[in-house]
Amino acid sequence: MTADPFRLGWFANLAAPEWKSVYSGRDATTNYLNGRFHEDMVRNLERAGFDFIMLEDSLMVSDIYQGTSEIELKHARYAPKMDPVVTAARLAAATTRLGIIATASTTFYHPYQLARQFATLNNITEGRIGWNIVTSSEDLSAQNYGLDKLPEHDRRYDMAEEFVDAVTKLWGSFQQDAILADAESGYYADHTKVNPIHHEGEFYKTRGPLNLPAGPGGRPVICQAGSSPRGRDFAARTADVVLVIPNGVEGAKEYRADMRARAAAYGRDPDEIKIFPVVYPIIGETEREAQEKNEAWYARKQHNFEVQMAHMGALTEIDMSVLDPDQPIPEDLTTNGHAGQFEIWRKQLAGKTVREGFSGMRVQTTEMVGTPDGIASQMDEFMQEVGGDGFLIYGQPISRQSIAEVTDGLSPALQRRGLLREDYAHATLRENLRSFV
Ligand SMILES: Cc1cc2nc3c(=O)[nH]c(=O)nc-3n(C[C@H](O)[C@H](O)[C@H](O)COP(=O)(O)O)c2cc1C
Repeated sequence: MTADPFRLGWFANLAAPEWKSVYSGRDATTNYLNGRFHEDMVRNLERAGFDFIMLEDSLMVSDIYQGTSEIELKHARYAPKMDPVVTAARLAAATTRLGIIATASTTFYHPYQLARQFATLNNITEGRIGWNIVTSSEDLSAQNYGLDKLPEHDRRYDMAEEFVDAVTKLWGSFQQDAILADAESGYYADHTKVNPIHHEGEFYKTRGPLNLPAGPGGRPVICQAGSSPRGRDFAARTADVVLVIPNGVEGAKEYRADMRARAAAYGRDPDEIKIFPVVYPIIGETEREAQEKNEAWYARKQHNFEVQMAHMGALTEIDMSVLDPDQPIPEDLTTNGHAGQFEIWRKQLAGKTVREGFSGMRVQTTEMVGTPDGIASQMDEFMQEVGGDGFLIYGQPISRQSIAEVTDGLSPALQRRGLLREDYAHATLRENLRSFV
């Protein structure tokens, strides 16, 4: 038995690609900053039948770890990083069917500005744009936007809920059919179909109407990745696509059942929400090559330790360098940052010292090692076990070689098994996401 066909998305951060390999060329310098690297990447993804690329974001140069940005910049973790909303326009111009999901934070945008930028993107991409809604998780980002601290975790979700309501009303305020361009009557647009919203809530005030229609489908696709109970509720109410770093197959099953139940409780058809667990495929031409690559990754203990300590520090705003590396992570450590994610990490680190845990930890848990065909088979098994809609491919740092391993190795292997589309049935991201249930 084989699973039903599923979808693929790629998690991309617009930071520098692989820069140490002999094959890096100028990709991590010129070709990254002038946009060509990612432009080539999205052409590959489209050729390989991906539903979308998701452009993540953060808004700071972190200096939490050891009180300096040294390790962060040494490993090019968070900076430099291109703005995903601006880059989305460029990547859309290089493709015709691939969905482009850009991250934007409800804590720092204003609803009118966001509604306008994403409506513009939805129009110029002819319905291929998505918005990954985040609330941000770092005081350092807040300090770049005139605040001393981030609002508290659940308060950020209160703001996000009102933000999304205001944005949704703005997207509906300029009706799609308001544009007549009727030379005979002399009306370009019908003013009765363009109306203010007069939104005045606890956090935001915006009069409207938006000064353009929201484009195909009436709004962009909404993507969310909250993992705390509050975050899951928010996603269940608003999202078309949810992203999750599951704790293995059992974690993925639990998350899927929980999200579908929450969506149903909001009166939604659970099939409207497409769930994408993150996977990290390590691909070799032979099984042995893949295993060697995997072992080589774990062997870089000091490198991994530094990178994970700085990464976790940036996301939780806890300076991990003050922890005793030979003791387990303290139980009373809490964060106002990525709360749900922090709990997943805590489970992964259970029973290990800080040093052991961080030097052998990857960003997500579902790793698959093998040949393209072997990984296609592991994905098939995962889908049969968990049920589901697709996978979000993560690879860090990326290179032309690692992209090709997926787009020209794994994707064709999945297609041969009937697990991945060979062509796009529709023009818009939402229609393609829903084209097989
Ligand atoms: C696959 C994935 C991608 C994410 N991308 C971003 C991102 O680009 N920017 C960001 O600030 N947070 C990002 N997050 C974090 C989530 O938005 C959320 O804050 C985090 O999962 C913690 O959930 P919680 O706030 O409900 O505890 C991502 C999370 C996941 C699992």
